[in-house]
Amino acid sequence: MFEGKNVLLCVTGSISVYKAVDLASKLVQDGATVDVIMTESATKFVTPLSFQSITHRPVHTDMWAPVAEFNIKHVALAERADVIAIAPATANTIAKIARGIADDLLSCTVLSTKASVIVAPAMDVGMYQNSATQENVKRIRNRGFKVVGPAIGHLASGLEGPGRLAEVPAIQAAIYQVLGQNGDLAGKRIVVSAGGTQEPIDPVRYIGNYSSGKMGFAIAEAARNRGAFVTLIAASTSVPPPLGVELVPVQTAMQMREAVLELSRTASALIMAAAVADYRPQNSAPNKIKRKQKDLKLELSKTPDIVAEVSGSVIKVGFAAESQDLLQNATGKLKEKGLDLIVGNDITAPDSGFSVDTNKVIIIDRNGEADQLPLMPKIEVAHKILDRVVALLPRVAH
Ligand code: PMT
Repeated sequence: MFEGKNVLLCVTGSISVYKAVDLASKLVQDGATVDVIMTESATKFVTPLSFQSITHRPVHTDMWAPVAEFNIKHVALAERADVIAIAPATANTIAKIARGIADDLLSCTVLSTKASVIVAPAMDVGMYQNSATQENVKRIRNRGFKVVGPAIGHLASGLEGPGRLAEVPAIQAAIYQVLGQNGDLAGKRIVVSAGGTQEPIDPVRYIGNYSSGKMGFAIAEAARNRGAFVTLIAASTSVPPPLGVELVPVQTAMQMREAVLELSRTASALIMAAAVADYRPQNSAPNKIKRKQKDLKLELSKTPDIVAEVSGSVIKVGFAAESQDLLQNATGKLKEKGLDLIVGNDITAPDSGFSVDTNKVIIIDRNGEADQLPLMPKIEVAHKILDRVVALLPRVAH
């Protein structure tokens, strides 16, 4: 995804440095080239070798270390970077960059760069809440630096409060948003639905389905990483949603309908990966139904077909979860619902469909052309769908 992109990870002295090692690993796995600068204090917690082993690149610790080619190290690193992330960022480093002090490799590089800078503070609660630090954080925010965290919780000192380094996915999301700025979905608004609706029977029971949200979340994450502004309408799910997207939680098909109709009006594309109930109880009992009668009959009403109701120039992508006649049923739904594309998934195939991390899908377009994809991780399926959406974009008014 991020091949050819250069991330400069600047690491300062905090017990949370171990999370930066994990962050570096995730960035490398997603294809980015990661250069690391460590301050002297950072090297007291973790050795440069840890980062070097993960990034397969030399780690920069010394402003004055001899270099193979003639260049000014901090200028070269500053110019090379597509994004700079300072994680963890101590109170001392934040103070230096807030005031433009340049007395080590990290601060010189940040002062020289034109790249976007992300700062993830990590320090004790007292240091973070001190008005000096608060002023410095405000100052860097005003200069356009993106501050991620700190998280609130247990600190190394034993105290509780704000000061914990933000979790890796939060820092990663901020980095990917910057890297995706020039992606093929930059400036586009994409609405994605995910998860399974729940239709209440009474206050404790509902009609639901096995959707985990993984497929829709993968699409939202992939679109975010390609530069889109993503609105994620999420019904019931069992995994955490991606960060860096606008989250709209819903429960029922009717709530999802309201959100989809409203939000897709200004969207370039709507991708309906949610498993929406086709029927809902006609009446939801106000109190818990007692176990008194031998049999209980539920009267169900058909829910509105949400995606079919969406009109305008928005690109409409639906999913078809099928247990038989995949091609025929999916093609039928494409036509009935007026879709541009339908993603048919065979929910009987092993490791495909509900709850699993992989999916085996067939993408069908309006001309009836079908692209059968092999079993692959849902994030890869997401990119394949987005490739097709990108090809249709010139048709959209916004
Ligand atoms: O969340 P996961 O665990 O990762 O599982 C992923 C998934 C299996 C849920 C997903 O890949 C998937 O297939 N989603 C669509 C499931 C579904 O409801 O399919 P359907 O064939 O019943 O509906 C067809 C399309 O119409 C879907 O895009 C659906 O969102 C939409 N629909 C359905 C009913 C309704 N009342 N309104 C709708 O808009």
